Amino acid sequence: MTTEHKATMSFSDGTPSVEFPILTGTIGPDVIDIRKLYGQAGKFTYDTGFLSTASCNSSITYIDGDKGQLLYRGYPIEQLAVHCDFLETCYLIYYGELPTPAQYQDFQSLVMHHTMVHEQMQFAVRGFRRDSHPMAILASLSGSMAAFYPDSLDINSPEQQDISFVRLIAKMPTLAAMAYKYSIGQPYMYPQNHLSYAGNFMHMMFATPCEKYEPNPVLERALDRILILHADHEQNASTSTVRLCGSSGTSPFSAIAAGVACLWGPAHGGANQACLEMLEEIQANGGLEKVGEFMERVKDKNSGARLMGFGHRVYKNFDPRAKLMQETCREVLAELGLENDPLFKLAMALEKIALEDDYFVQRKLYPNVDFYSGIVQRALGIPVNMFTCIFAVARTIGWVSQWKEMIVDPEYKIGRPRQLYTGLTERPVKPLESR
Ligand code: ACO
Repeated sequence: MTTEHKATMSFSDGTPSVEFPILTGTIGPDVIDIRKLYGQAGKFTYDTGFLSTASCNSSITYIDGDKGQLLYRGYPIEQLAVHCDFLETCYLIYYGELPTPAQYQDFQSLVMHHTMVHEQMQFAVRGFRRDSHPMAILASLSGSMAAFYPDSLDINSPEQQDISFVRLIAKMPTLAAMAYKYSIGQPYMYPQNHLSYAGNFMHMMFATPCEKYEPNPVLERALDRILILHADHEQNASTSTVRLCGSSGTSPFSAIAAGVACLWGPAHGGANQACLEMLEEIQANGGLEKVGEFMERVKDKNSGARLMGFGHRVYKNFDPRAKLMQETCREVLAELGLENDPLFKLAMALEKIALEDDYFVQRKLYPNVDFYSGIVQRALGIPVNMFTCIFAVARTIGWVSQWKEMIVDPEYKIGRPRQLYTGLTERPVKPLESR
């Protein structure tokens, strides 16, 4: 990884210059290895929001934001979304290679035979108010798996790492569906292991014990694609949270619970919910006729409004996942006879205006995956407050693979950022009576 090139940092305050190695990856920008900076110059770097800082090395996912490229283990997302299903993608992301047919069969059977959760879990769910946000329940239930599988704390055991991975991807849909069923007062549906991963998830979400349920194959494939597109996205906020939390040596289930909590925020996984709510609000206030007015509000810095589902920290070109999601959106709406869905029409109108508007063009703001995934999920019958849970189910594979990659990295250390202190300097404490 080290190149023969070096970077030199010089200082105008008399501190001697420091030379740093430059590291190179397989693709992507080189990085300056500044680990010795504090030791040699007594200074830290300052980079809130990690705008120029690589927090780890990783061989899982690569994004070229300018090209609009996303690769899982080297494979373009456009090809994976067409040729593979979600479980193949999970296998690829965790193990590094696509499975052979035999490996796929074994893996599918392994995952599908771990879909049931401990019966005691239902009592944990019952402790919540019925109107709790399902992400609050999911964060709690995913963390509580550490209590059911205490051996997972042996984080350096390859067996424990692997079984935690299987348990996580197998049980997250079950837990998400339980959170949903609880919120609507319906009985939990036990997993059906003969179904596909996405089909079983739909069954646990939408079936009742009173009727036979057959997942619609077009909708099943759409849900599977949503899962593939959200499976990993290198060092995003929730993944970095999982790594930081996991770096203390905690159970992988606790680290993933931290990721779920982070994902919930509207600037991250909550964006598809926020996007759909935005579309509903525009529709309620006049629909297509009011699109222009809404766009003016979005461009006005004082309004605080943003065009949700637009913009991305890394993609400064089209988000490749957005194109695939737009395609899925059309397929699902056609299957359900909803081609004239007003929210889809509204989304298309907003997209067209934004792509031609100087404000968006200059700032390189393009639709991200969430711009369409909310419409697809709504059409699948998934309620808005479950959207982020679906994202969490998908991203679990990314989280657990990145966690494992960190644990086995010989350079692995507890994450401990430094700070620029701007508080008061030392001062004496006055006793209470003299304050
Ligand atoms: N609508 C209007 N203006 C925007 C938007 C938007 N959606 N996104 C960015 N801008 C503007 C900002 O106001 C800023 O303008 P300025 O330079 O005049 O001050 C400029 O574009 C740069 O924006 P930043 O917030 O600095 O960009 P950053 O990379 O920090 O933010 C983010 C990325 C958080 C995703 C942002 O684009 C946003 O809030 N988008 C809407 C929420 C969203 O869709 N999030 C989903 C992310 S994808 C995911 O998690 C799967």
